[in-house]
Amino acid sequence: MAFIVKKKIREKEYFYLNENKRVSGKVKTKTLAYLGKTRGGAEKRAEEILNSKKLDKKINEEMEQQKISIEELTAFCKRKGFVYQSGEIYGGLAGFWDFGHLGVELKNNLKKEWWKYHVYQREDMVGIDGSIITHPQVWKASGHVDSFSDIFVVCKKCKKPSKIDKNEIGTAKCDFCGGSFDEKTAKEFKLMFKIQIGESAESYLRPETAQLIFTNFKFVYENARMKLPFGIAQIGKAFRNEIAPRDFLFRSREFEQMEIEYFIKPDSKCPYEVLDDEILIYSAEAQEKNIVPSIMKIKDALVKGIIKKDWHAYWLATEFNFFKNLGANPKNFRIRQHKKTELAHYSSDCWDLEYNFPFGWKEIEGIADREDYDLSQHEKFSKKDLKVFDSDSKEKILPHVICEPSLGVERAFLVFMFDSFFFDNKRKNTILKLHPKLSPVKAAIFPIVKKTEFENMAKKIFEDLRKDLHVVYGKHWKEIRKK
Ligand code: GAP
Repeated sequence: MAFIVKKKIREKEYFYLNENKRVSGKVKTKTLAYLGKTRGGAEKRAEEILNSKKLDKKINEEMEQQKISIEELTAFCKRKGFVYQSGEIYGGLAGFWDFGHLGVELKNNLKKEWWKYHVYQREDMVGIDGSIITHPQVWKASGHVDSFSDIFVVCKKCKKPSKIDKNEIGTAKCDFCGGSFDEKTAKEFKLMFKIQIGESAESYLRPETAQLIFTNFKFVYENARMKLPFGIAQIGKAFRNEIAPRDFLFRSREFEQMEIEYFIKPDSKCPYEVLDDEILIYSAEAQEKNIVPSIMKIKDALVKGIIKKDWHAYWLATEFNFFKNLGANPKNFRIRQHKKTELAHYSSDCWDLEYNFPFGWKEIEGIADREDYDLSQHEKFSKKDLKVFDSDSKEKILPHVICEPSLGVERAFLVFMFDSFFFDNKRKNTILKLHPKLSPVKAAIFPIVKKTEFENMAKKIFEDLRKDLHVVYGKHWKEIRKK
């Protein structure tokens, strides 16, 4: 049975949806979702969650999930108007994709849901929209000019170019044919696109949205009257001159990111509850010792010290729930900690949310601890004081970014597509069953009787609905079926 509970944390009220279940004769309570800070909002959200669970249960009894390959998905997306290769009539351009009439709707819905979950439904988050091209010093300060590169190598056997990490020189094998790489071809390859501004100035297309959050951090803190801990969210384009774009949308040269920088007073505790989720957990230690990942509750991994910081556990569970709430299959997810040799130049610890793609387990979202690396660097390079006044402790603080949940829109798009292919046992065909909130078309109106009065009624319904939703109108159901 599910019920709403209120918790008081630091004099503030938070509402959660809990469920009691009998396990081996004992009643166990599980937290299903965070519902917000008001009783009214919590009741509405709880009803939504429970209704969608009921519907899912009914549908899942009749349907079986289907596995398809990335090539099949690419072909499906083209055939149905989700995604086309950019400039395809000229032969296409590797790493660039266009979204068709259904793809753009799914992508917009995905971004809208992300914004609602992370910004509107939280009181500790506001958003910004930074520019794609900014002052080149931003990229010098962030470390991208000097350190944002991959190693370019060519396979000895199939001669295809690939990207590898610095620590993989000599050990990595070619993804296409399993061959070894020619070490003589190994060279550092810078990943930022350089661009010209006006007559003679130069800058870069941003390789991540994050830096615009750091450069605007103090303005936002003061103008939006935020208090630590708080976050700034942003959705926008990012560009990387990838050596070997591949796997459809998975690795492209132009993509979108949905990022959060979450700022805290150094060493402060996380006041939020870690949601009660089980997931496959793969720590750096397990990878180094060749131990298989194990299924565990994220909160238990925190207690056992596998996840070191409460904030990290909290954000990992929060991000996993974003996918679960929108109908993704939890069994296809795991969290994996970066090994020391993998960590980006700015991060002291990082866990990825990974998805079991047909081409293996791959990162869909990185959740890094960036500490005060970026704000310190921008203080140093801009010579501006980026410390803020904390009214609780009455001191000036340079906050730490304890977590940076950074999710690629296109990778999330792939996850929801893959998890939506089902075999309908009743009708004996394959269907695409996206969550209603993501679905490109919200309703289709088909007047089934060929009479003016019915058609007028159907048109009225269509006109009313289209004011707020993307709906389609089919003239006659039978005629449509004939086509
Ligand atoms: N600000 C941190 C950052 O950019 P990242 O791990 O390099 O971290 C974050 O990127 C996310 O952006 C990835 O988890 C992935 O979803 C997406 N992403 C990165 N490179 C991509 C690419 N070439 N194509 C598509 N998505 C990409």
